[in-house]
Amino acid sequence: MCGIVGYSGYLLAVPRILNCLSALEYRGYDSSGIAYLNGGKLEVAKRVGKLENLANHLKTKTIPASCAIGHTRWATHGEPSIENAHPHTDENNVIALVHNGILENYTDIKKSLEGKGVTFYSETDTEVFAKFFSWNLFDENPELKEYYAKYYAMHNTVHNTFKISKKRIIKALKHTISMCEGAFAIAILIKGYEDTVFFAKRKSPLILGKCDESFMLASDIPALLGYTNKFYTIDDDELGFIEPDKASVFDVNLKPKKLKFHNVSIAPEQVMLGEYHHFMEKEIEEGAGSVLSTISRIEKIRALEKIPAQIFSGDFNLHISACGTALNAGLIAKYIIENQLRIPVDIDYASEFRYKKPLLNNKSVCLFISQSGETADTISCAELAKSAGATSIAITNVAATRLESITDYLIPTSAGPEIAVASTKAYLAQLAALYDFVTYVAKNKGIPLEFSMDSVKNSVIKNNGVDYSVQIREVAGLIKDYESIYFIGRGIDYFLAVESALKLKEVSYIHCEALPAGELKHGSLALIKQDSIVIALLTQSALIEKMLNNIHEINSRGAKIILFSPFTELKPFVFKFIEVPKVNDSLAPFSVIKPLQILAYKIAVSKNLDPDKPRNLAKSVTVE
Ligand code: G6P
Repeated sequence: MCGIVGYSGYLLAVPRILNCLSALEYRGYDSSGIAYLNGGKLEVAKRVGKLENLANHLKTKTIPASCAIGHTRWATHGEPSIENAHPHTDENNVIALVHNGILENYTDIKKSLEGKGVTFYSETDTEVFAKFFSWNLFDENPELKEYYAKYYAMHNTVHNTFKISKKRIIKALKHTISMCEGAFAIAILIKGYEDTVFFAKRKSPLILGKCDESFMLASDIPALLGYTNKFYTIDDDELGFIEPDKASVFDVNLKPKKLKFHNVSIAPEQVMLGEYHHFMEKEIEEGAGSVLSTISRIEKIRALEKIPAQIFSGDFNLHISACGTALNAGLIAKYIIENQLRIPVDIDYASEFRYKKPLLNNKSVCLFISQSGETADTISCAELAKSAGATSIAITNVAATRLESITDYLIPTSAGPEIAVASTKAYLAQLAALYDFVTYVAKNKGIPLEFSMDSVKNSVIKNNGVDYSVQIREVAGLIKDYESIYFIGRGIDYFLAVESALKLKEVSYIHCEALPAGELKHGSLALIKQDSIVIALLTQSALIEKMLNNIHEINSRGAKIILFSPFTELKPFVFKFIEVPKVNDSLAPFSVIKPLQILAYKIAVSKNLDPDKPRNLAKSVTVE
């Protein structure tokens, strides 16, 4: 949630910051803002809504600033408004600060500052951060702050005699963060430091990029890819500053860090639209590739072999926790593990797991699935598992994340950067990693499986060749104006229905409800009437008869059924039939999900909605 950027160099800072923010917009698009030092003045520009509003406002001016910070916001504390938009400044407009995270004890700090006469104008925790830092910076000499601001107002500069040393700024920043609870990645501009961006981080991600003649900060690597491929991942409780030729990073004891920059080889095209209209469209097309590259990466780095086989030899209990689409991938894994390995699996929404007093011990093996590796609820569960002595395994798509650092083992997915908020290719990559995990456990326990990883690859390749465009366009046109749609399936198809319903609701704003087909008559059938739409999934031959009963029940209420299935003999019983390739029963997810993702995408587009940035949502949810 929220993306931050900082730049210190010799070139125009504002266009760069805007460029990087556009790559970070997936983290929130309720408002955006930028602060820069221009001829000594600290200027701030903010706009509510998408970044284009800010970009349009700034594009008429050439701002000769070579140092700036920027922010794109997903509102947590306070509605999307100019007052609540970042950057936030202190009372004398000496400091501007952008923040990603949540300052948990902000009400206490705010109260204490109010007691000292500080006024607040927004509802945000970030304004508290800015003013608290300012207070700490000028704490030893509060008159200095006033003097600093007044002198500055007159001369647009600070005489060196009065200039606060960087050492003192860093000390004040350290003191500030030591008093702060919660998660934060912050970037700060301070008047008088024309070429310096100060920063600090805990729990929220912050990356330092080394460019040819500048240093940059951002919430993720892809945001900086257009400028550099040399990165340093800033660690928790590190702080420092960047200047055009130098980056200074200190640890929690203010000991300077030796910076080792790593080369990251993500091609810039991976984060560009190319021939596509939207990232969601592009990423659906990349689904097959993400499965294949995940399988080959796991094999290449021998990720599974690093998980000690003895964990699975005796008694162990398996738990899965995740959020959103990642949880839905976990549901499929539970089904496959129980169905094929006959090992029971507990699965929980990460936001619920911690509160149910989970039964964890040193025989527990916990799988945490997260595209971003940043989801706050999932991270908290991993912390809980660790403290209970459980073995923890992360499945993440982004490298060097907090989730990875907390867990014992990593099974990486290799979907490449996923930009659209609604997850598509990462879901398939997560399934590939999970099927690989199942194969590994089966091998260690000597259990034969109904599938092999080669059959996973083949089913993906087979499915990828199918062109659904005409059929799906027709169905999309039929259902786009509905307010409510039902999805049904049995067995593994039910779990696919859950993910398909989530996809459709997030991008089309149509209310979607997924139900086990047999459960429909226990309540929801009351809502089915003439012309209601029911999307049915049927990939398992053993379930044809039972599903047919459900189809008849729905037909007799006059509803329209759209069936996704390889069993063409069912065509006469439904309103629309979308044929999907027949694959081994366990591999159904790899054949049926793509047309359902396309359906969600097409409906969003036909309703003139932006499928990449659904309202109220963000891709990385770093609040609980
Ligand atoms: C948000 C995103 C979803 C995603 C979920 C979990 O809700 O909008 O697309 O599935 O978070 O994210 P994670 O990064 O942990 O997979």
